Amino acid sequence: MTDVTNYAQIDWDDQGRPHSRQYDDVYFSKEQGLEETRHVFIEQNNLRQRFSALQDNQCLVIGETGFGTGMNFLCAWQLFAECASPGARLHFVTVEKYPLSRADLAKALALWPELAGFGNALLAEYVAVHEGFQQFVFEQGRVTLTLMVGDALEQLPQLDARVDAWFLDGFAPAKNPEMWTPELFAQLARLSAEQATLGTFTSTGWVRRGLMAAGFALKKIPGIGKKWEIVRG
Ligand SMILES: C[S@@+](CC[C@H](N)C(=O)[O-])C[C@H]1O[C@@H](n2cnc3c(N)ncnc32)[C@H](O)[C@@H]1O
Repeated sequence: MTDVTNYAQIDWDDQGRPHSRQYDDVYFSKEQGLEETRHVFIEQNNLRQRFSALQDNQCLVIGETGFGTGMNFLCAWQLFAECASPGARLHFVTVEKYPLSRADLAKALALWPELAGFGNALLAEYVAVHEGFQQFVFEQGRVTLTLMVGDALEQLPQLDARVDAWFLDGFAPAKNPEMWTPELFAQLARLSAEQATLGTFTSTGWVRRGLMAAGFALKKIPGIGKKWEIVRG
């Protein structure tokens, strides 16, 4: 297996936080990384209640656009570990065009000591990351991560899944419109389970209109920190 060469180009700010040189944007907000993830993705998808309600052998599938540092995945896993029954399962499916190198991933995850147990488990599996689909298995199969490396619009059409909850996290639409196109929203709709939900940090009008055209019903929600409004669907 060959390693990918198109790794994320990262600059680190004075507090050790990653910034993408390719997209000139931050991976998470400076002050509120974990709080923002929990507010935008975990709470808007109602995951605490949905994880708690899972029966043995039931699986909740989360889909994400933009794996980045894996922080969203680790937050979801941490909550699942806290409140799901031992027989329930979590499958997290995500796509990433420019994966972090293992060294950069380790540096980014060091920012979140409270996620260290989960982050170390991810780092132990995060080797020989390559183009296309790869699967990481944790907790003897209770938690599965499918990482698709490549452009979202090339990878998502190859996926067969029934996603229950979406995390739309592909950098700001103004900086990266490619992650917010009608073609991509059509893939999200195709891959959604009935009654699938979504959370996203952007309330940009053309993104909302595109998601509604793909069949999602949306609601604006007050944001936290510098974000005035976020969206749930
Ligand atoms: C805001 S960051 C994601 C942060 C991430 N969820 C986390 O927990 O750290 C956006 C990610 O989307 C990725 N990305 C941007 N355009 C993409 C595309 N067309 N296809 C796949 N991934 C893309 C970027 O490389 C970046 O890692």
